[in-house]
Amino acid sequence: MYDFKPEAGLEPAEMYRQLVDAADALTSDEPDAIANMANVAALIWEFVPDLNWAGFYRVTEDRSQRELVLGPFIGRPACIRIPIGQGVCGTAAAEGATQLVADVHAFPGHIACDAASQSEVVVPVMRDGQVIAVIDCDSPNPGRFAQADADGLERLAALISDRI
Ligand code: SME
Repeated sequence: MYDFKPEAGLEPAEMYRQLVDAADALTSDEPDAIANMANVAALIWEFVPDLNWAGFYRVTEDRSQRELVLGPFIGRPACIRIPIGQGVCGTAAAEGATQLVADVHAFPGHIACDAASQSEVVVPVMRDGQVIAVIDCDSPNPGRFAQADADGLERLAALISDRI
């Protein structure tokens, strides 16, 4: 049994340090990308408070078109394919840059997968200078995510980029 649990009331920097350590322990010896994305999505869900969705979209070219395809996640069923450049996830993938969105309704082209979502952070996972996936976290609370969340999730993305 794996029993990775955050301590209660941690500051975000320490919470993300423990999350990254747990992700490292779970993925370091495992070559299967889907298993690693599934466990990392579950760890985000365990460690990061006030989420209604956490998971991955992967960059694929399987229909001779570069687009994002839904990967392992926790939350309600979500839209499966997102064109690069569209929505919060597609923007993160197109720009190779984290999107910190305090109010999803104010983000042009936001794609609503769960009507409960009010704020969102999307972090690109980069390998050899290319975006290979994004980590997407949604919250039912407006303005839920701060720079500390972006920093922590970027460290997580860097850790797993050659394990997914
Ligand atoms: N809101 C995202 C779509 C994915 S769901 O939130 C899970 C977007 O605008 O790209």
